[in-house]
Amino acid sequence: MVFGLVAVLTACTAAQSAATGKSGKSLYERLGGKPAIQAVVDDFIGNVAADARINGFFANADIPRLKRMLVDQICEASGGPCKYTGKSMKEAHAGMGITEAHFNALVEDLVKSLDKFRVPEKEKNELLAALAAMKPDIVGK
Ligand code: HEM
Repeated sequence: MVFGLVAVLTACTAAQSAATGKSGKSLYERLGGKPAIQAVVDDFIGNVAADARINGFFANADIPRLKRMLVDQICEASGGPCKYTGKSMKEAHAGMGITEAHFNALVEDLVKSLDKFRVPEKEKNELLAALAAMKPDIVGK
């Protein structure tokens, strides 16, 4: 029982330190909040739309919804006040046949936008780590 509580507290602290820097600010705050996330997602989806390696997947996509969902997902994952209400990553990508190469192409398109908006290396890597954790639910499903 006592050990159980210690384990829970340790897990909470680890999760929190993943989203907060030395400043104590959440990744969400350090990224610049929702307007900054929105600007990055807009630009990122523009890159995806122009990327012949993967844009075929999005031919019938509801782009305004996709953008809203991505903003909420990144906002929530980075410790912001949003609530992601979309499908699970498994559900959203089931049966698409997304390969590691497709996944890497999409990440490359995101990195281009993060660099364009001068997101610092530390914040960039924290965000990419959060997204990399979703990879097993997206690739090869
Ligand atoms: C970490 C990487 C990724 C994240 C965080 C992500 C996130 C999302 C989210 C939040 C949605 C919307 C779910 C909903 O509507 O409820 C979605 C849908 C979708 N994703 Fe991903 N995704 C990722 C990787 C990929 C990759 C690599 C591809 C293909 C190359 C892809 C293709 C799609 C498509 C085609 C849809 C459906 C859009 C629609 O029908 O409107 N995703 N994704």
